[in-house]
Amino acid sequence: MISAETAQGVLHGLEKSSNRGPAFRREAMEALDALPGYDWSGIYRLEADSLLLDEYVGAETDHTHIAIGVGVCGTAVKEDRNVLVEDVRQLSNYLACSLQTRSEIVVLIRRGEHVLGQIDIDGHEVGAFDASDEAFLENLGNLIAARWE
Ligand code: SME
Repeated sequence: MISAETAQGVLHGLEKSSNRGPAFRREAMEALDALPGYDWSGIYRLEADSLLLDEYVGAETDHTHIAIGVGVCGTAVKEDRNVLVEDVRQLSNYLACSLQTRSEIVVLIRRGEHVLGQIDIDGHEVGAFDASDEAFLENLGNLIAARWE
């Protein structure tokens, strides 16, 4: 759950940035990391048949390459939709990044019909994310797509 005020603050701050490409994605992930409940914030790029870990802030993860259809991240691409998981312990198709993770949200980064990648956030609390986070991350995804390099 993110307030409209906080979401607007982050988006407006990033809109003013002069960064592009990886530097902008890094800046965006650092802004997300500062939000309460956003315990791991990262981007995966979609290249050919794999998701490749891009910029992230949080614990190191083994999941640097994820195949389409595998885990929450791969499912989002396979089913062409955002995925919001209340409690990751209830999923069988899940790749654990950290034992502390309880909830997760994956929002696709789109340019028109084309999927460039995704924003992946993990939270340590059950039900940390809802539709307000999804809408916020979609807006952020649009900013990231416009500066994709
Ligand atoms: N949990 C994800 C893998 C990415 S890590 O959380 C950073 C998944 O199931 O696809």
